Amino acid sequence: MEEGQPPRAKWHGPVVLFVSIVVCGLLAFAWLLPSGATTADPDPTVPPPVVVTPAVPVQKDPPPEPTPPPLPPEGHMPSGGVPGANVVGVDCSAVPCVALTFDDGPSTYRSALLDQLKALNVHVTFFDLGQSVAARPELLARSVAEGHAVGGHSWRHGDMVKAGPQAACEDANRTRNAIKDASGVDSPLVRPPYGAWDDAVLAACTGMTFVLWDVDTMDWATHDGAKVTDHVLNDSRPGSIILMHDTVSEDIAALPGIVAGLKERGYTLVTVPQLWAAPLETGRAVFNGPRATKN
Ligand code: NI
Repeated sequence: MEEGQPPRAKWHGPVVLFVSIVVCGLLAFAWLLPSGATTADPDPTVPPPVVVTPAVPVQKDPPPEPTPPPLPPEGHMPSGGVPGANVVGVDCSAVPCVALTFDDGPSTYRSALLDQLKALNVHVTFFDLGQSVAARPELLARSVAEGHAVGGHSWRHGDMVKAGPQAACEDANRTRNAIKDASGVDSPLVRPPYGAWDDAVLAACTGMTFVLWDVDTMDWATHDGAKVTDHVLNDSRPGSIILMHDTVSEDIAALPGIVAGLKERGYTLVTVPQLWAAPLETGRAVFNGPRATKN
């Protein structure tokens, strides 16, 4: 035993052994713990875990339902499927009637023309170009919805005689289909551009009626509302079909005077199909309706 050293206690040995075992055990336990489990700081060498957010389906508005073309107002669709007839119960074989018609639309003036016709409570007949119907289908749909009659005027104002029967009728059918697509109306009415038609073309265009005119306002040439009004009031007879143009804006301002003048002279204004009591026969050309006796 060395000098100055306290004597070792008898319990010293077992305690040291016990403490050593405990310390070793704790060290081994710490070593076995997974890396990072004992620290709050992330290991900069380990990329952060990718957080996968559960896919939430993007709510999209359902595709809009296709809008069906508006149906003609009640009572506007006669037998034969030609709109514009029976708007008023009138027998044009007994009462003097005339039909205003507008060619070459639907142009950009159609809306204003429809507004004017609505204000005057008059229904007319439009002979429209297929290419313009395809470009402005909403104007055709509105025309039909407001009780006007419609027919075709070729796809792009082609001369049916020059085109020949087969090409002319294919063109007429293409236009008819465009009108049907835009308005839901399958119209057999055709106005040959320039009034150019012959028996061969008419015979080839099965299921169609050619509608010509007996009063030419020459509106496209004069663009003069007063002259147009004079033509209408001086030239019309019972059953007249009056040629005007959707593309002549001066007609719109002249319409109140035209309508008032016709009514003063005892005429009832109707659409082309309304001129006849029965649906128009196909395979024929007409220039006017019945010539009722005028008082
Ligand atoms: Ni024309």
